Amino acid sequence: MRVTSECTEDLIKRAAQALSDGNLVVFPTETVYGLGADAVNENAVARIYSVKGRPIDHPLIIHISSINGLTDWANEIPGYAIKLARSFWPGPMTLILPKKSLAKSFVTGGQGTVGLRVPSHPLALELLKQFERSGGKGVAAPSANRFGAVSPTTVEAVNDELGSYLATEDLVLDGGQSKVGIESTIIDCRGSNPVILRPGAVTVQMVEECTGTIIDLNQRSNTIRASGLLERHYSPRAQVLLGEKAEAGDGFIAMVNVKTPDGAIRLTSPTNIEEYARDLYIGLRMADQQGLSRIIVKSPEGEGLASAIRDRLNKAAFGK
Ligand code: TXA
Ligand code: MG
Repeated sequence: MRVTSECTEDLIKRAAQALSDGNLVVFPTETVYGLGADAVNENAVARIYSVKGRPIDHPLIIHISSINGLTDWANEIPGYAIKLARSFWPGPMTLILPKKSLAKSFVTGGQGTVGLRVPSHPLALELLKQFERSGGKGVAAPSANRFGAVSPTTVEAVNDELGSYLATEDLVLDGGQSKVGIESTIIDCRGSNPVILRPGAVTVQMVEECTGTIIDLNQRSNTIRASGLLERHYSPRAQVLLGEKAEAGDGFIAMVNVKTPDGAIRLTSPTNIEEYARDLYIGLRMADQQGLSRIIVKSPEGEGLASAIRDRLNKAAFGK
């Protein structure tokens, strides 16, 4: 495994070549870091599952460099999905669509659908463009963490998660801290209306305004498998408790205007909701690095990005 930060043309070429050779490339995106492989190479995709420790029936998102790649992978694309792609790509949104034969079951978890995203991080886009110029069709990439753990938003976090699982031929690209900080909004585009499977920075209101439809938040298609939908997910080793009552030695996360309880260890103090999302996973990881056993988190209030953050916090706190 080589970690590299100089974003030269040569580096991008080497990373694209590594993908073509069937190796893994960890790359930055604006949401979280992704663990990438050539989406049509069965052996390379199999390595994603073993490095991540993820069950093979959990589908992967395929990353493409532009909306032009949509029809390589997807069929029966409804008009509202095109509108969404035009409005929010490149960006933190994944569309689930009926798949074409290029999307093999080893990447879709055996389902008839495929998840597609155009990320906006410049390094990710350059990598995807270069990979496609040399004949690649798309890069399959889950978040670059072990299954069930917190997604990495920095290269240091990637190393903590996967450093001992990657091979010497694999590459890690350092693109700084992810700006959004939580995973993409996932939208099921199989029906006559969009259904949000995982909330994110492309908010319910943004989807409603773009498509002219009303989103029913209770309408989750149950025939679809998304590991981000498992009730317990995104968990640090420390126990996550939602609220404001902390004891001495507990980690504490809340907006900057909420006072740290006596003896608690402040992990992050965001000044707005975007900062809350961006720094949340760093805060959760910091607790583990410091060996804390509990993290008390005061969830942010409001709709939009705040409700996406609450979704992750509820899952991190579930059953522990
Ligand atoms: O922001 C993100 O989406 C990041 C970056 C790297 O792009 N990726 C990410 O991937 O979060 P992952 O695999 O950790 O979470 C993607 C979720 C999983 O829960 C997966 O089951 C779901 O998307 N998914 C992928 N393809 C799907 C499909 N065809 N049908 C239903 N769910 C799908
Ligand atoms: Mg993940």
